[in-house]
Amino acid sequence: MSDNLAIIIGAGAAGLMCAISAAENGKNVLVLDHANKAGKKILISGGGRCNFTNMYTEPSNYLSANPHFCKSALKRYTQWDFIAEVDKAGLPWHEKKLGQLFSDNKSEAILNLLLDRCDALGVEIKLNCAISSIKKHSDESFELNSNNGKYHCTSLIIATGAMSFPTMGATDFGHRIARQFGLSVTHTNPGLVPFTFDAKEKQQFEGLSGVSLDSEISCANQSFRENILFTHKGLSGPAVLQISSYWQAGNTITVKCLPDIDLCEDLKQHQQVSPNKHVINILKLHFPERVIERFCINMDLNKPLQQYKHSDLETIANAFQKWQFIPSGTEGYKKAEVTLGGVDTDEISSKTFEAKKVKGLYFIGEVLDVTGHLGGFNFQWAWASGHCCGKAIQ
Ligand code: FDA
Repeated sequence: MSDNLAIIIGAGAAGLMCAISAAENGKNVLVLDHANKAGKKILISGGGRCNFTNMYTEPSNYLSANPHFCKSALKRYTQWDFIAEVDKAGLPWHEKKLGQLFSDNKSEAILNLLLDRCDALGVEIKLNCAISSIKKHSDESFELNSNNGKYHCTSLIIATGAMSFPTMGATDFGHRIARQFGLSVTHTNPGLVPFTFDAKEKQQFEGLSGVSLDSEISCANQSFRENILFTHKGLSGPAVLQISSYWQAGNTITVKCLPDIDLCEDLKQHQQVSPNKHVINILKLHFPERVIERFCINMDLNKPLQQYKHSDLETIANAFQKWQFIPSGTEGYKKAEVTLGGVDTDEISSKTFEAKKVKGLYFIGEVLDVTGHLGGFNFQWAWASGHCCGKAIQ
């Protein structure tokens, strides 16, 4: 066993960042991953262009039972630190919207940045390496059993993410290891995930798959303004993914389409100015016809405006601007970008990421109960927690 060896399980965003920082600090670093490729989620992220951070990263962009836990690492390794790395590597990037920074090139460029740094620092990465068990000996060292044989170390970093997107190698391994060592794990749920409709909504909105609408979406005292996107199964799009992290089964979702316009006032004004115009023609100024048909199912829109009472116009406007539904569920971990909940942050030092009860055992990245909003915040958490842990490993 090498006293100076740190083993990181998980060659994802957090694990690779941690490997770089630990190696810079003079540690020998070995990264083990059961997948056949490092950083698979980086490769598929941001629609293939990796939304690698967000210019407006703040602790308030993260959900956790302890909202203070993430503050220290986010302050010690900021979005500007990662941007500096990207600039140093000469990689071009752009802001898409809302501070979301994307690579101009494929996501591979961001992954290669990390792998090149690992390579230059002598970090060893072993892929196709499945860990079957971990033991801690009385001399404080860890013994790992794997399909490649045994490994020993004094610092063991769990960077295995969590259950979202199992096709990319995601597992609950990190949570199981936490429990094995007596650490609690908070309730977990899929986050940043599309909603599914029940039979009634499915029938009403059939045929709208692929339609996207600017909306404000609200639930549980939270609201987000972005697009919603109809799918074959229900509703997705950035606004929906964001609110899904706050949704609990049975909660009502409220959607206001066209949030910049008071549609009821707009209809009333048109009624005054052009009373002979048909209401459908006013709605067509704002929405495609098939959207109007689906939202206003069973409403008669083919009469001149003057034939409608104000209360009728309000009912029509509310169909778009006070649309309420209860999702039948979500598309689950299979389609979730993140896992909400995880290793209880009360068990972990926010400075070093070491488990308070288990010397030498560290947890970083998505495996922890820290989940970012959509828009580059989750990678920023992976970079920040990975970096701070790597610097702190003894
Ligand atoms: P991550 O999951 O990246 O890495 C864990 C590693 O551990 C994997 O390589 C896995 O193979 C390995 N592993 C798991 N179990 C193991 C075991 N038992 N033994 C050995 N190895 C094991 N975020 C963002 O900020 N911007 C974006 O653009 C996107 N886009 C995006 C798209 C999609 C489709 C998804 C699913 C997710 C995103 N995200 C995102 C979220 C982001 O990918 C996520 O938060 C980070 O990858 C988390 O980094 P970690 O290193 O913690 O886990």
